Amino acid sequence: SEEMKKALPLNGQNALVTAGPTYEAIDPVRFLGNHSSGKMGFAIADELARLGADVTLISGPSAQQSRRQSIKRVNVTSAAQMLDACRQYFSDAQICVMSAAVADYTPVTVADQKIKKQADGFTIELKKTTDILKVLGTDKRPGQLLVGFALETNEEEKNAEDKLQKKNLDFIVLNSLNDAGAGFKTDTNKITIIDRDLRKTSFELKTKEEVAADICQKIIELIKG
Ligand code: CTP
Ligand code: CA
Repeated sequence: SEEMKKALPLNGQNALVTAGPTYEAIDPVRFLGNHSSGKMGFAIADELARLGADVTLISGPSAQQSRRQSIKRVNVTSAAQMLDACRQYFSDAQICVMSAAVADYTPVTVADQKIKKQADGFTIELKKTTDILKVLGTDKRPGQLLVGFALETNEEEKNAEDKLQKKNLDFIVLNSLNDAGAGFKTDTNKITIIDRDLRKTSFELKTKEEVAADICQKIIELIKG
């Protein structure tokens, strides 16, 4: 029964997690996307749920499945749809982890019909998407914890610190693409956590499940003060 359940560290907390890529339509059959598998975000959602949080997982197109039935999954396709879904759930969430690989650009127009092969080259005009994390960082209220990711290949720590500050995050997870075995299509990641006080913790190359556990321990540490 409910009262028999052992208290877990994140009981009573609502968590919002984003995962996977976004697909930006070009025409009815084509899109701009990226190689994000969704594995990292799904692992974080699983771990938050295991620790007792009520988890909403907003996912772009991904073949991943949640391990825990209690996780509420919201499927979206584009960056604009992900923004709408995040806005809907953000105000009720105490913990927000934005691990989706959101497209930075989307086509200015989407053709209604399949675009025919052109004689020579072909140019697609793109416009910037809204930075979801930055919007949430602006709307953040006291008591809300906002976590972002940074995918960098050069000046990694400096770029990650800039993102942490610009997006008003509580901490940022720097994903090193320079290390073999780390990144989008692998089952492992090598991360550094940088918090608001610019305290840095570097971790070994680990499975995404282990990385999720490290991220959630940092969340618990910050919530429990
Ligand atoms: N992000 C977002 N909305 C976007 C783009 C990124 O919410 N339109 C979030 C990602 O989910 C991630 C963080 O911002 O948590 C950093 O993403 P990243 O691509 O590393 O940084 P950008 O700010 O997009 O900058 P750039 O791609 O130029 O490095
Ligand atoms: Ca980006």
